[in-house]
Amino acid sequence: MTISRREFCAVTGSGLVALGLPGCGSVPKATGVANAGPPAGIILNQAVFFKPQRLFVCRDAGGIFAVSSDCQHMHCDIENNNGVDPPDDGGIGKMYFYLCPCHQSGYTYTGEIVHGPTVRPLFHHPVSLDPVTGDVMADSSVILLSDADKAMRLGA
Ligand code: FES
Repeated sequence: MTISRREFCAVTGSGLVALGLPGCGSVPKATGVANAGPPAGIILNQAVFFKPQRLFVCRDAGGIFAVSSDCQHMHCDIENNNGVDPPDDGGIGKMYFYLCPCHQSGYTYTGEIVHGPTVRPLFHHPVSLDPVTGDVMADSSVILLSDADKAMRLGA
């Protein structure tokens, strides 16, 4: 199942407010499609950060995918500080790949929760090849919600 960011906010906005969490209105808007260049430039187990689109383009053994940098705790931008120990990690070490700078939520390379305070994993966004250039394009305006969609990879 996929959903646009606008649809997601329309469906969940009031629910988030009811839970006392920030609604979509307070979330900085990611804009558009990131051009990650040729597939060969996307290195296994590395994440390339695209700040305007607030996402990482990644490659695992299955192929290329995109993970949002929008922390699902209170929506700080995780940016590109992966693999850095927080000052008070309490021995957590480097089990996480992405570390939110605001309250130190940790996520795996695929955006699953390693430790809170977040209680939600990172969103995934669809990736495709540009039909003209062959570049990898990652669309931050669409959110992949189901486990099946999140498991999809671009095999390029
Ligand atoms: S906003 Fe990321 S941990 Fe709080």
